[in-house]
Amino acid sequence: MPALPALLAKADELAGWRRDLHAHPELAFREHRTADTVERRLRAFGVATHRVTETGVVGLLEGARPGPGRLGLRADMDALAMEERTGLPYRSTHPGAFHGCGHDGHTTMLLAAARHLSETRDFAGAVRFIFQPAEEGSAGAKAMVEAGLFERFPCDAVYGLHNWPGLPRGHVAVRPGPMMASADQFDVLLTASGGHAAMPHQCTDPVVAAAHIVTALQTLVSRRADPADAAVVSVTRVEAGSAYNVIPETALLRGTVRSLRPETRDALEAGVRQIAVGVGAALGVSATVDYRRGYPSTVNDEGPAAVIARVASDVVGAERVHTDRPPSMGAEDFAFLLQACPGAYFWLGAEGREGCGLHHPGFDFDDALLPIGATLWVRLVETELS
Ligand code: NI
Repeated sequence: MPALPALLAKADELAGWRRDLHAHPELAFREHRTADTVERRLRAFGVATHRVTETGVVGLLEGARPGPGRLGLRADMDALAMEERTGLPYRSTHPGAFHGCGHDGHTTMLLAAARHLSETRDFAGAVRFIFQPAEEGSAGAKAMVEAGLFERFPCDAVYGLHNWPGLPRGHVAVRPGPMMASADQFDVLLTASGGHAAMPHQCTDPVVAAAHIVTALQTLVSRRADPADAAVVSVTRVEAGSAYNVIPETALLRGTVRSLRPETRDALEAGVRQIAVGVGAALGVSATVDYRRGYPSTVNDEGPAAVIARVASDVVGAERVHTDRPPSMGAEDFAFLLQACPGAYFWLGAEGREGCGLHHPGFDFDDALLPIGATLWVRLVETELS
């Protein structure tokens, strides 16, 4: 595999670091042991550290040569709130927490790059190693931006990487424009009169209204969104009733909305409200819509995306770099960093353990990626800050 020999020689040590993090996963904003470990290692490498938010760590390193360039490299550190089912010797020792998304690997790859760069310093300018909390649903990147990340440590560009089962091991995918989707949630509460199931003419029925609304919501993607654009509306929870012979007074619908473009997101939100309220009204039922915007879409800037494609081509070979893969409809809080600073987010192909994908209880990070990911970071710094 195409990694720097100095990093390849350390592969076993890096796997040890990664497995230690894996055994001690921590949930959003509670990454105390992880942040302490990162900070201790960075300091041992001669990298100055600062906290941005309670568990966010930023390491600062200057190159051997002066230069105006400032690059941000980001790794996420948090685990998922789920139980691990791998049976591995270094499995989670924290009940209810599991590194099922490989953030233990992301943290290790960035630490390895920090050590290598601190030893070689073969660049001009400054690198900011950004170790962020709470990627999994709690917007740790947003918290760091709001805590002054880029005011305190300005960056010309910021980069993030995620291991990606499904893409062959060691391949890289990056594209200009949307890379990941926005993710919103909605709750629709339908309120009706309810009554005796044998006398429907004497009441209004939230169950029939809910059924029509679920069906009508499907027209948002098929009729309202541009067919050449991607969008998802999924109703994932339906709750109503308690008996065979009672029409209930309420019904609840919940779901998620994904899109790649802001204008599509606006149209889908308006559509969810309009359909819930309008279809409900037509059937004599009142609808209350609680629509909550989550992560925005992760949109890569053209220049930085091209930089990643070029650096990755040098490291893993042009035939293993993909710039035409479609975006994922999953979401990623790196989006908030890209709203505050130009940059790019990219995928590093991984072999999931026994074919398990991200967020599967049997997933484990692919340790073969550690020297490759670290090499990508090192070469990015050395070529962009040459
Ligand atoms: Ni992840």
